[in-house]
Amino acid sequence: MRHFLDIRDRTGEDLVRLLDLAKRLKTARAGRPKGACDDDPALAGRRLLMLFEKPSTRTRLSFDLAIRQLGGDALDLDGAKLQLGRGESIEDTARILSLFGDAIAFRGRRHADLLTMAGVARVPVINALTDRSHPCQALADLLTIREEFGRIEGLAVAYLGDANNVARSLMEAVVTAGGEFRLACPADIPPDEDFRAFAAAHEGRVRLVHDAGEAATGADVIYTDTWHSMGLEHGEEANAIFAPFRVDAALMARAADHAIFLHCLPAHRGEEVVAEVIDGPASRVWRQAENRLHAQKAILIDCLAD
Ligand code: CP
Ligand code: NVA
Repeated sequence: MRHFLDIRDRTGEDLVRLLDLAKRLKTARAGRPKGACDDDPALAGRRLLMLFEKPSTRTRLSFDLAIRQLGGDALDLDGAKLQLGRGESIEDTARILSLFGDAIAFRGRRHADLLTMAGVARVPVINALTDRSHPCQALADLLTIREEFGRIEGLAVAYLGDANNVARSLMEAVVTAGGEFRLACPADIPPDEDFRAFAAAHEGRVRLVHDAGEAATGADVIYTDTWHSMGLEHGEEANAIFAPFRVDAALMARAADHAIFLHCLPAHRGEEVVAEVIDGPASRVWRQAENRLHAQKAILIDCLAD
């Protein structure tokens, strides 16, 4: 049994294996109806329990479709509707979910709860986003970058804005896959200690700066996310502090000519990115969102296949 909790638990070879599998699965079913099973469904009869303590569109839809295409089925559980919402412990919830499901995808308010769940569950636990990280997103991001450039090694990925869960997993993913990661964030809203420690441990491969233009210069990928993550909103006054990190056409012009724009979504046009960029020719955000499906199929097989 193998969990999928964080990118930093995985080696570069592991990531390549997952990306190869995701790409194979994607190619194999091109043009087929979304609801149809894969030709050789790898997870027939398996049941995925999806437990969300926060809202989700992409993660919910892509996990649901992923397990169905692999021959299994999914149940979408709202934390507030479980006894968990009335104080039943994470431990006991994990024991019960393990009785009725073959894997758990958990979007939790606290990363510590994910680790507790993984420590107790008798089935694989997949991190579907916590306050700390979003590794499923990062795998789909790598898949999208590799589809665009044919590689990740040697590419520079610049993330502008809030040093949040998406940024952390992206940093871990890009570095593990052999790329260079640059973070530009306001000096007044710095990354946490764990983020800085990872960056320090990968000196030369990670650069933390406070100038958006500096990070964007020559980058192959420009990435941003909301300035206000779920449950971790900075307050409206922070918008003025983040404003210099907004991705606009001038910032994109600092990147390499072939640079693409990525965003995990949901986006806030006019805040972290302008419409001209996210809806413009360099944007790959819809392919990136679609790749959540293929990346998660690889994750499910990795966690569940015998
Ligand atoms: N990117 C992402 O995880 O989107 P959702 O919150 O809609 O799942
Ligand atoms: N950083 C965002 C990502 C949403 C997919 C959040 O946690 O709200």
